[in-house]
Amino acid sequence: MKVTVVGAGAVGASCAEYIAIKNFASEVVLVDIKEGFAEGKAMDLMQTASLNGFDTKITGTTGDYSKTAGSDICVITSGIARKPGMSRDELLGINAGIVKSVAASLVEQSPNTIIIVVSNPMDTMTYLVHKATGLPKNRIIGMGGALDSARFKYRLAEALGAPISDVDGMVIGGHSDKGMVPLTRLATRNSVPVSEFLSEERIEQVKQDTKVGGATLTGLLGTSAWYAPGAAVSGLVQAIACDQKKIYPCSTLLEGEYGLSDLCIGVPVVLGKDGIEKIVEINLSEEEKTALTASAEAVKNNNAALNS
Ligand code: NAI
Repeated sequence: MKVTVVGAGAVGASCAEYIAIKNFASEVVLVDIKEGFAEGKAMDLMQTASLNGFDTKITGTTGDYSKTAGSDICVITSGIARKPGMSRDELLGINAGIVKSVAASLVEQSPNTIIIVVSNPMDTMTYLVHKATGLPKNRIIGMGGALDSARFKYRLAEALGAPISDVDGMVIGGHSDKGMVPLTRLATRNSVPVSEFLSEERIEQVKQDTKVGGATLTGLLGTSAWYAPGAAVSGLVQAIACDQKKIYPCSTLLEGEYGLSDLCIGVPVVLGKDGIEKIVEINLSEEEKTALTASAEAVKNNNAALNS
């Protein structure tokens, strides 16, 4: 199992580290545009192998895509990240050019690959990869909902005073502060709805804290987060590499599901060896449907900017 990660920055390196520590991939290739950067990150990570007990071989290259040939899975994290006060949408202009050229180089070397898009604004970048590569829709996956759901569970556990492993919850919709739709109605603590334990006001607070989860960290760190994004990407990579058939909310091309089409947005999907093996349509309440539709409109507005 060969995995390529383009962008050896904060998120790319973190995801390479988690993939290696989980020890399911034979090889991870890091690619960056900054001279020597990916090689340096790869060497540093390889020097953790005997300490962390993994056999995954990590190598780095400054833009030599021939080294990525035959990758089963490629992750795109290249581009710029937001600074405090910025929205993810403000990254569109710069990141679109980067993501488009990176995707073309990856597919040239690995025509059968599955691509996971991380660069922001992620839903629009995922749509762009569809348009630019023409790969089948099951092989293009946007990572956002897995991270947003992890942040949702963190906030739920905090509010409940419960261990995170007892809590379940999912965030669908666009990967943006306004576009996220945390499904509080379906969130549970040991299979019991969280509304049994939390007031409406507290649940609303969890929802709002989840939606600004990334912005809160950007304010604290001065740049965007990397541990949870890296871990979320590694979870998707593992689900595909190990054919786990796990359900994660991922950005995928919709063709009528949830009454939406011609956009990529986060909905639950089954991930296995073929990438997105099924889009799961859950029954949404009227309020959730309205929120998802509004989120889709915002994503479509962003997508329109790709042509301008
Ligand atoms: P970073 O700045 O630490 O790393 C980005 C790397 O991409 C840099 O090392 C840069 O040299 C490289 N790069 C730029 N152009 C390139 C090109 N043409 N080819 C190869 N490498 C290139 O940024 P960070 O924090 O790792 O974030 C990366 C992206 O991921 C950002 O767009 C950020 O907004 C996004 N992100 C998305 C998340 C999600 O849930 N979808 C979560 C966190 C970040």
